[in-house]
Amino acid sequence: KLEDYNISPQTGFIPNEYPLERLSQDYYQPWENLMDNLPSLILSKKIRKIIDNKLPVLSTEYLSNTREFRRAYTILAFLTHAYVWAFNENPVDTLPQQISVPFVKISNVLELPPVATYASVCLWNFKPIIKDINASDKNVIKDDLDIDDICTINTFSGSIDESWFYLVSVIFEIKGGHCLSDGLNAIRCAKAHDFKNLIYCLQKLAESIDKLGSILMKMLEMCDPHTFYFRIRPFLAGWKNMKEFGLNKDGLNYGTDTKPDIRSYAGGSNAQSTLIQALDIILNVEHHPTGKRPSYNNHSLSKSLPPKPIANKNQKDDGNNFIIEMRKYMPGPHRRFLEDLSKINIIQSVVLENSKNHPELALSYDACVAMLKAFRDKHIQIVTRYIILQARLSQNGGSLSKPGSVKTLRVGLASKLTLEEKGTGGTSLLPFLKQCRDETGDSAAGSW
Ligand code: HEM
Ligand code: ALA
Repeated sequence: KLEDYNISPQTGFIPNEYPLERLSQDYYQPWENLMDNLPSLILSKKIRKIIDNKLPVLSTEYLSNTREFRRAYTILAFLTHAYVWAFNENPVDTLPQQISVPFVKISNVLELPPVATYASVCLWNFKPIIKDINASDKNVIKDDLDIDDICTINTFSGSIDESWFYLVSVIFEIKGGHCLSDGLNAIRCAKAHDFKNLIYCLQKLAESIDKLGSILMKMLEMCDPHTFYFRIRPFLAGWKNMKEFGLNKDGLNYGTDTKPDIRSYAGGSNAQSTLIQALDIILNVEHHPTGKRPSYNNHSLSKSLPPKPIANKNQKDDGNNFIIEMRKYMPGPHRRFLEDLSKINIIQSVVLENSKNHPELALSYDACVAMLKAFRDKHIQIVTRYIILQARLSQNGGSLSKPGSVKTLRVGLASKLTLEEKGTGGTSLLPFLKQCRDETGDSAAGSW
């Protein structure tokens, strides 16, 4: 049952009740007060000093339910990245205890790492613009929720561009809930060898994946690439593979000087979306470490059967596979969902075994693969506009802005991130993303 994995049949990996906007306990107001003014505290370069000198080390014992734990996790994720990356020339080695002590405890409860994740800034960071006070349960998210019904709870920059960047992902996940039910229905039909309905489910799934591509392209409407590149993404960077970006060590100390606890974590990235990985598993798309894509031809109908084994055997964590690594940055129940899904993903093998007699099986399955590949193509277009092009413009003196002004826009240490073409998750982005796209095509059943 989806609910056993904290997944909603209506809203997918987004909880079907709104995230908690604020911790109401007086005790936690020191955290909430900082969040009320986060963009100003960052802009005025006060955030580090205030955390160091004014913030007490708060206990987690007054947090009483999951929504409160999630809110606290989001707060500490924002405070951590503001502390590390805010305008400041001095590298940070050690997180102050005011953040690290509660953050580590709360992360353990939620089975997430203590760093800004997709869950903290997207999944659990939005609220309705107008509250429906007449609704019987005003926290429940309506099925027809759209992007212009919601806003973010927190941002680093205070910009609508940053809000939009997170909100596109929220809507993406909510609308993607349908993909999940279509995909699971398809697995059921495949198991029952009910080919007629399997074809129908796969056709529906292909349509749902196609819609995801359109939602992704909404990014262009309200998130300006220049703002994204200089003011948003530097804050999302992590402390893994980031030594060259100004951190002293390859990691941050979450302990003390006398008892260090150095931890390396990748920064926030949509690669932590469980939805896309679930689609990969449903369609048996396999990913390999960058540069290690096996060179084989597409599965074709003429290829010798039986097809590949059911479980994604290649998707073992070899410490090098970024996509698998990103599962550690998903909430525990979602991670377990992917593990269990990998044990029942029989669609591709059923399609390959039966396509000769039912050619429409391969056609409908390949339509899904084609849509997922098209989504990754669109994503590469977005990355080109928002990162690659911006990096080039800034190196050329930035024809988008007056000479010299680009530098002043950069965020402290993270400015170095703007010079390089590296993802906030730490990947060398284009080779990684292109391989992900090409591997998607590799799983096609050969109807193309
Ligand atoms: C991965 C950039 C929006 C889904 C990545 C990576 C980058 C990137 C650089 C490589 C991993 C890393 O090092 O972080 C962007 C930019 C965006 C954007 C610049 C918008 C301005 C989105 C959205 C989604 C998404 C809205 C959908 C939820 C993914 C996925 C991956 C990824 C699934 C993992 C690679 C794959 O499965 O193909 N993104 N992204 N991205 N992004 Fe995005
Ligand atoms: N992962 C995205 C980036 O690298 C946010 O910019």
